Amino acid sequence: MTAIANTALRAEPLADEDRPSLAALLDAEGLPSSDLGGPDVRLFAYRDGGEIVAYAGFELYGADALLRSVVVLPGRRRAGQGRAMVSATLAEAGRLGATRVFLLTTTAKVFFERLGFAAIDRASAPAAILATRQIAGLCPSSAPLMVKALARAPLRER
Ligand SMILES: CC(C)(COP(=O)(O)OP(=O)(O)OC[C@H]1O[C@@H](n2cnc3c(N)ncnc32)[C@H](O)[C@@H]1OP(=O)(O)O)[C@@H](O)C(=O)NCCC(=O)NCCS
Repeated sequence: MTAIANTALRAEPLADEDRPSLAALLDAEGLPSSDLGGPDVRLFAYRDGGEIVAYAGFELYGADALLRSVVVLPGRRRAGQGRAMVSATLAEAGRLGATRVFLLTTTAKVFFERLGFAAIDRASAPAAILATRQIAGLCPSSAPLMVKALARAPLRER
């Protein structure tokens, strides 16, 4: 488990036994869940105390990542958990080599704008991102595609 700075949240890779709970939450929000088991999908649970309060994941294709399955439990929203756990998820994607992160959203465009994402034309996205199941089939073609460039971590002073 990894502590997230300035919050009570702790991140952990999603356990197989918790996947049905995430799938149910995504289904309730009208978000894709049928591709959760895909080979490129990395999923995380975020706990406050013992309880899971949020989930997020990404798929990594070289230096490009697709952020996905971002959801905070309904009773825990608008309290900063979403911002904190998305920032932590992006940091993990960056640690694994991502320099750009893409996402599709129909419901949370303003939330992601606050986190530094901006809408782009699908035509300008890389082929690997456009070929993901989310973008190629599962999400509505009207859903805006957004992107954020990740800042490189500063070099540690010697
Ligand atoms: C989108 C979601 C993850 C946001 O989580 P959250 O914990 O409520 O977000 P936070 O409290 O960290 O909010 C961060 C900022 O976004 C804003 N924000 C959050 N949800 C918003 C919304 N629906 N509309 C507009 N602004 C929103 C907050 O006001 C806050 O802004 P501020 O920093 O200026 O105060 C959550 O509402 C959710 O799980 N929604 C359902 C699933 C979903 O739509 N996921 C995205 C799929 S791509």
